[in-house]
Amino acid sequence: MRKVRFVEPAKVYRMIKNELDAAYFDVMSRGELIDRSHLRSFEENLAKFVGTKYAVGLNSGYDALHLSLRSVGIGAGDEVVVPAHTFVATCSAVVNVGATPVLVDVGKDFNIDVDKIETAISPKTRAIIAVHLSGYLADMPRIMKIAGKHRLVVIEDACQSLGSSIDSRRAGSFGLTGCWSFYPFKILGGYGDGGAITTDDPEVARFARRMRFNGEDRETGEYHGHGFTCLLDNLQAAFLDVKLRHLPAWIERRKSIAETYRHGLSDIPDLLLPHYDKPGFDHVYQNYTVRSKQGDDFSEYLKKNGIEVLTQFRKPYYRHKALNLIDRGFPETEAISREVCSLPMNVEIGSDEIEYVIQTVRDFYER
Ligand SMILES: Cc1ncc(COP(=O)(O)O)c(C=O)c1O
Repeated sequence: MRKVRFVEPAKVYRMIKNELDAAYFDVMSRGELIDRSHLRSFEENLAKFVGTKYAVGLNSGYDALHLSLRSVGIGAGDEVVVPAHTFVATCSAVVNVGATPVLVDVGKDFNIDVDKIETAISPKTRAIIAVHLSGYLADMPRIMKIAGKHRLVVIEDACQSLGSSIDSRRAGSFGLTGCWSFYPFKILGGYGDGGAITTDDPEVARFARRMRFNGEDRETGEYHGHGFTCLLDNLQAAFLDVKLRHLPAWIERRKSIAETYRHGLSDIPDLLLPHYDKPGFDHVYQNYTVRSKQGDDFSEYLKKNGIEVLTQFRKPYYRHKALNLIDRGFPETEAISREVCSLPMNVEIGSDEIEYVIQTVRDFYER
């Protein structure tokens, strides 16, 4: 049977082997492993790409969220608004600094429903974490306005949306910080965990630089607080710097795959495709997440026919008992959770494979 993988890291390696190998040998032959020139170079290039003054390399997207909250002293007694439909790390970062997450339902584009944010704001609210899911930005102009009115900090969980923009302003450049994940399957994926904060605020950048190194100022040796061990490795940074150079072209490839899917599937009434019509919003398709009325029957049919798909998240995170969260009623999140299915979307996929996915989806609906 034919197989279409969700992602194929080994194929990407073959595509840019010479550059990745050169980066590896450069790091290894110099023996530069921790906080060296490759990290600095990647940070500079990432900041330039996002459009912020600073980027600080960390060990994960979770660390970026966690240090962002700590950088403004959010902790016990504070509330933070987070979307009900996101990866659990968005919420766990809030809980782990001692604050209380207040969940808000999402809209048809999978991002926080801006009309519902103010119902979640109380005198204890300190921040909104806006998540840009799957490569498409939350409505940042409106979120920034609400935050300004209530004097709230805005943190962007942009882990799934490097390169996406509104009117050419890129994700990660609207809020106090942009939080990035370079987990291998991300649009810019490393070869292990990785993450970063982008910001225009020199104090936040300095805080993150110290906290990633157990609180130490590397120049003076002074500890400025109890910190963490969460530095982006120099070797990972070298690989990410190589891949970042390819990102603009790879985003174009993703958009063209999305158009092929749209062309092949948009006439199926029971299938909602991730194409939205907000003027100025640019989708980079980290994921191509469709909604099928047939839920598991649909995703299982694709799997049975050799197509790897993701169904994140069939069970919303607030339904996991051990997380101890308050379900305030999230009808859109509930519907999305039943229907969600991400089709293979990556730069290494072949056109024949995309055609096979389209044909298999059509077969399901034409049976
Ligand atoms: C929306 C979102 N937030 C946070 C994270 C956490 O990133 P990481 O896995 O690098 O900690 C991820 C990625 O997994 C994510 O997709």
